[in-house]
Amino acid sequence: MSQTSTEGQPHGEGPEDESRRDFLFIATGAAGAVTMGAIVWPLIDQMNPSADVLALASIEVDVGGVSEGSEIRVMWRGKPVFIRHRTEDEIARARADDAGTLPDPATDAQRTLDDAGKWLVQVGVCTHLGCVPLGNGAGDYQGWFCPCHGSHYDIAGRIRKGPAPKNLEVPPAEFLDETVIKLG
Ligand code: FES
Repeated sequence: MSQTSTEGQPHGEGPEDESRRDFLFIATGAAGAVTMGAIVWPLIDQMNPSADVLALASIEVDVGGVSEGSEIRVMWRGKPVFIRHRTEDEIARARADDAGTLPDPATDAQRTLDDAGKWLVQVGVCTHLGCVPLGNGAGDYQGWFCPCHGSHYDIAGRIRKGPAPKNLEVPPAEFLDETVIKLG
């Protein structure tokens, strides 16, 4: 007479009990996942910016009064943005340095707003730990210099020396007409 082994099973439990237990375990887990999803989604949804906030995320800046060789600073999304009207000499220097030693390689033309390279728009936050660099030809590369820990950026905003790992960020920007730049 053959006998089914029940070794290792609680007293009175057979294969049917075991599969029922597995089913209950899976069903409970699935219900838990759905509940978590239901709780988490409204939280994530709440964190998405509303349409009016998104609209405010873009600003328009009239740079008609910014003369060659000078720059202005505006606030955009809570950060300073440097808008520089570069001179011919600055453009030539930036382009000559395309071939230099660049920790975060980028050509000058990839960073400027216009083909001629007159306008450079960048977020004025040091990519090391977030200080606001000094401008107007500061630092060893006559661009921007962050005094917090000594990062030197060139006149294209590229990191050249110091602890900052990246170039100054170039934000989304475009000319709406001859003098108005839209940021964002
Ligand atoms: Fe600019 Fe450290 S924050 S060098």
